[in-house]
Amino acid sequence: MLKDKNIIVGVTAGIAAYKAVDIVSKLKKQNANVEVIMTKNATKFVSPLTFQTLALNPVYVDMFKEPRNFDVEHISLAEKADAFLIAPATANIIGKIANGIGDDMLTTTIMATKSKVVFAPAMNTNMYLNPIVQKNIDYLKELGYEFIKPGVGMLACQTYGPGRMAEPMDIVEYMINNFYNKDLIGQKIIVTAGPTIEPLDPVRYVTNHSSGKMGYKIAKEAEKRGAEVVLITGPTNLDPPMGVKVIRVETTREMFNAVEEEFNQCQVLIKAAAPLDYRPEIVSDVKIKKKDGDKDELNIKYIRNPDIVAHFGKSKKEQIVVGFAAETNNLIEHAKAKLINKNLDFIVANDISKDGAGFKTDTNLVTIIDSNGKTKAYPILDKSEVAKIIIDKIKDLINIKS
Ligand code: C5P
Repeated sequence: MLKDKNIIVGVTAGIAAYKAVDIVSKLKKQNANVEVIMTKNATKFVSPLTFQTLALNPVYVDMFKEPRNFDVEHISLAEKADAFLIAPATANIIGKIANGIGDDMLTTTIMATKSKVVFAPAMNTNMYLNPIVQKNIDYLKELGYEFIKPGVGMLACQTYGPGRMAEPMDIVEYMINNFYNKDLIGQKIIVTAGPTIEPLDPVRYVTNHSSGKMGYKIAKEAEKRGAEVVLITGPTNLDPPMGVKVIRVETTREMFNAVEEEFNQCQVLIKAAAPLDYRPEIVSDVKIKKKDGDKDELNIKYIRNPDIVAHFGKSKKEQIVVGFAAETNNLIEHAKAKLINKNLDFIVANDISKDGAGFKTDTNLVTIIDSNGKTKAYPILDKSEVAKIIIDKIKDLINIKS
């Protein structure tokens, strides 16, 4: 993803410097060219040799050391950088940059660059919340510098609160996102994901095997490409992607209401969820008990839930509405009927009886059917690749409409 990108990683003196080692390793695995600049004090936490070995590049610490080549190094690094990442970023480096101070290799290089600069702060909670630090952060944000918010957790100084550097994986994803083609800026996209659940009594419910993986990947892809994403999700075990608005629901009617709230302001609705079509007519407010001596049966009457995508497919104005059809037989026939009955712009059909397709897997085997009946079958692909195909197709439709 980061092939041929020059990422300069600035490491400052915080205990989270050990996590910067993982960040550099992960950036290299994304094929980035990584160069590391450390402050002098950072070298007390981690040896430059560690970074040098992982980055396969010399590490810069001292501005006045014999130059390795004839370039003025802080200027040449500043110019070649596609992006700067300062991780961990201490209160000190944030304060220096906010005040225009360039007194070492890292600060002078940051001051000299025109590339994007991203800070991943890590410090004691009180330091982080100190109004001076917050003012510096706000000021730098105003100037276009970017910040990856620290997490809340137990800190090395034995305090609990904000100040824990964001996870290396999230930081690397943030950097990857920078280089995405932001072709969906200005589009608001609703993605529904996961199952719904319908209660029978206070302790029992009915549901299905949907994991939410497909919908979450679609939400992530749309967000990366600059869309404003609202993820309306039934209960899942997944962490929602960074940067999306998450609305959690349980029942199909709750999902319907959440979509209704957002639909008029959106350009695209992607219904990747598997909402329950039926719900128990009566929800007992006390636990349903076994009845001894009774017939060995429990009869529950189910009634229809609203079909969310059909409702919005039929009432849509300019919006693009995309549905899914998870089938176990007669895939194309069933999917085509849904495409028409629900008035969709296209439908993503998958045969969930096939290996590598369906609810719980990380891969999917899909056929996409257009509103004009054009059908395209894809091989087994990772759900993130399927998400990309779906979002590309939506982008094409947006282009046609505008
Ligand atoms: O359940 P069915 O196979 O009809 O689902 C096809 C499409 O309809 C999916 O996109 C699903 O999210 C949507 N759907 C819905 N509301 C329901 C049932 C299904 O929006 N109650």
